[in-house]
This record gives sequence, C-alpha cells and structure tokens, in this order.
Amino acid sequence: MSKFSKKSNKISSDLIVRKNLFKRNFKNKNSKKECDLIFSYNIEKSLLNDFLSSVKIFVISCLNFKNKRVSQNTKWSKILKEISLNRPPNITHNGLFVPKKEISLEYNLMLTSFINLLKKLNLGHKIKYFIGPPQLRIKFGNKKKKFMPNSSEYLHSDAWTQINTKSCSTLFLPLVGDYKKNYVEFFYPKNNYNDQWLDKRYFMDGKNMINYYKKLNLQYTTKKCLIADSSILHQSVTKNNCQARLSMDIGLIPFNFKSKNYSNHSNHVPYEIIEKIGKDKIMIYKDSIEKKIKKTKVGTNTQANRQILSLDQQ
Ligand SMILES: [Fe+2]
Repeated sequence: MSKFSKKSNKISSDLIVRKNLFKRNFKNKNSKKECDLIFSYNIEKSLLNDFLSSVKIFVISCLNFKNKRVSQNTKWSKILKEISLNRPPNITHNGLFVPKKEISLEYNLMLTSFINLLKKLNLGHKIKYFIGPPQLRIKFGNKKKKFMPNSSEYLHSDAWTQINTKSCSTLFLPLVGDYKKNYVEFFYPKNNYNDQWLDKRYFMDGKNMINYYKKLNLQYTTKKCLIADSSILHQSVTKNNCQARLSMDIGLIPFNFKSKNYSNHSNHVPYEIIEKIGKDKIMIYKDSIEKKIKKTKVGTNTQANRQILSLDQQ
C-alpha cells in the first residue's frame, strides 16, 4: 500500500504513537487541548509584559545600529514600522533576528526571560533540545511576489528542514503586531498518517499534501502560546493590507520520542544549557551586526558563528 493511500479509515499506528507521546510530553496543569496534537497555554498579562520588555530591549538594540531614535518608551507599532521600512542588517530575508557580537548581551537577556516564561508555564522540564537557540521573528505584512523554496507561506512541517527531525514539535508564541491579519493556520493529518510523510522536502512541495490533511479552526493570538506536533502542518497567512507581527516560532525536541525519529545535529542545543544562560553561561556571537547575512536556499547557517562560554571558567 502506498504511504499516501487514502483507503483505510483505521487510525495508523504512527498516529496513535504520536498522540500518546504528545500527551505524555506536553500535558500539564496549564495546558488546554486544542486537538490531540496541539496544546495551548494561557499567558497572564503580567508575565507576557515582563517578557515583552526584554524582547523590546533586544529589538531596539538592533534598530539603534541603524541610528534610529527608538527607546523602551517607543510604541511597538512604531518599532515594527521602522523595521519594515528600514530593515536592520541582522534580520534575514525571512524575518529572523540573528544575534550578533554587538547585541549579544541583549540577546542573552531575552533568552533568560524566555526561559522564565517557559518555567512559569510549566514547560521548561518538558524540553530536551531546542532545534537552535531560540530566535525572534518578524513576519512582514507586505505580500511577497516570489517565495523561496522554504517560505513559511507554503503548507509545511518544520520537520522537513535540514536541521530538524521527525520527533520535533514547534512552539508558536505570537507577541505583538497584526496577528489578526498576519497569522498561522494549522492542518490535522488524516487517519492514514505515516511518519514517512515527514521525510525531508522543500516547503514548496507541501501543496501535494493538502488532500491528506484537514484545516483546523484555531485562534492565533498573543494571550497564549501553542505547541504543535510536527505531524501537524502549518502555513503563514498574510491578508491584504496587513501589518507586521512579531513572534517566536521555536522547534524543540521533547523528552519522549521514538529514537528512529531523532538524530542529533550540531545546531541542537540542550534545554539545560539555555536554562543556565544568565547564571553561569553566556552565548557569545562573533560576527559583527554589519556583516551581511548570506541568503541561502534552506537558511541553516544564520546561527553558526556562536560560542557558549561558562562564566565560572573565565
Ligand atoms: Fe513552520
């Protein structure tokens, strides 16, 4: 039988294993089941505001390298507009903020605050590896004319990328901006799901999978974060006249997974390392913010030039 066969209505064993693992990994006292492969976690206003203040320090450190006069008091709408009009050199074509030498401390501060947020949601100890150091992303509002092969506008699983694996889940954390018209849609696999559907491919090939999935009716909003298993497909949606939004979309490997679905990659960072940032570790970036970022087809090298220092050995 083809791995894409539509005939049987019986739930595949791969899907059953995924549902059970997902529940074991991510169910906690804060979780709400959106479906059996996506959980959401409400974020209290004060907790979100604490995190956003460290995000703002990081973002304005990037902008001030372009001689913009922005400060902690500048409204988010103005900051996002400034970035959209005049992109700082450390933001990639697809909106990733790449930490650089001059802004390492601000990045470390944001990481510390992010770990604090995860811990408050009782998610910290659920994560074994981050697929890369957590990154901030701006999704611009203007519609692109031409997409790259791995553009998030295509229906995709994050497991399809070079640095990821089939055992990953993704944490979606919308932060500020026009998330009502600039958001993410999610799609649930049909019963004949097979882990081979997560074999590596370009996002642009995701359209071939649409018949094997059904769209979910799920709210994308700043008051909660979502965690979705990699068997869930998703795509970015930008409606006409939408503005930019800021979010963190982070691939992670949970504690429990099928070993054949995971292989280590040098980009993967253990949670326990990131958790020590700001205590006895610091992540240093060597490239200057003024060094131009190379555009690649798959975008795997943006965080390569980094080093984790143990402060007690200095
Ligand atoms: Fe994605």
